[in-house]
Amino acid sequence: MFLIDTHAHLYADQFKADRHDMIMRSVEAKVERIYLPNIDHTSIEGMLALEEKYPAHCFATMGLHPCSVGKDFEKELYQIESWLEKRTFKAIGEMGTDLHWDKTYFEQQKEAFRIQAGWAKKYDLPLIIHCRKSTYETIALLKELQDGTLRGIFHCFGGSWEEAQEIIKLGFLMGIGGVVTYKNGGLKEVLPKIDMQHLVLETDAPYLTPEPHRGKRNESSYIPIIAQKVAEYKNLPLEEVMQKTTENALRLFEKA
Ligand code: NI
Repeated sequence: MFLIDTHAHLYADQFKADRHDMIMRSVEAKVERIYLPNIDHTSIEGMLALEEKYPAHCFATMGLHPCSVGKDFEKELYQIESWLEKRTFKAIGEMGTDLHWDKTYFEQQKEAFRIQAGWAKKYDLPLIIHCRKSTYETIALLKELQDGTLRGIFHCFGGSWEEAQEIIKLGFLMGIGGVVTYKNGGLKEVLPKIDMQHLVLETDAPYLTPEPHRGKRNESSYIPIIAQKVAEYKNLPLEEVMQKTTENALRLFEKA
């Protein structure tokens, strides 16, 4: 039995000094498959190099992050699209909307969302959705685009039971990360209501480090900490959480 990190930016500079050791630590912790969401044109080279070096463990996705949607977003999308034409990827992402940092380009974010959802349909790939302070808007957008073929993950889910129900109705999964270990994360109340079939695990490394490592860099080897917390809140054996989340991720990304 092994675990899957469905969301980790292991190409980030924060891993420059010990990337190989960190990946080996993760594999030793049974985190054998790690999906790498792209950000924008600046992250592609590092991501692809990592995938090439660790073909059994690291898998690239392709998309434009909402925080990289600015006035030149069409140029960014053009580069993403040319990569999608060149080779296959595991998903379209990281894409989505973000009203936390900068609201200036929200209309462009929505436009980029629609375009990328179109690519998910064209290439039959799952979406990795980022939404921050914009879950309601993102659900509305997805409702408009869902024709029964879109699938994917609401990454870093920390929403309400009402939002979880909407996501389930849309046929999407929720990515549970380090926030589950935070005292005021809110997942303690919501998780017991969500069936395991809708959940996958993620770190979002190097960000959102779980307790007791909070404040330091996050890495994929911490996935077992997250799995343990999910097991605790759902009152299930750890093995069941491991098995179900791995099955869900493989079904989504590999159609297995
Ligand atoms: Ni991310």
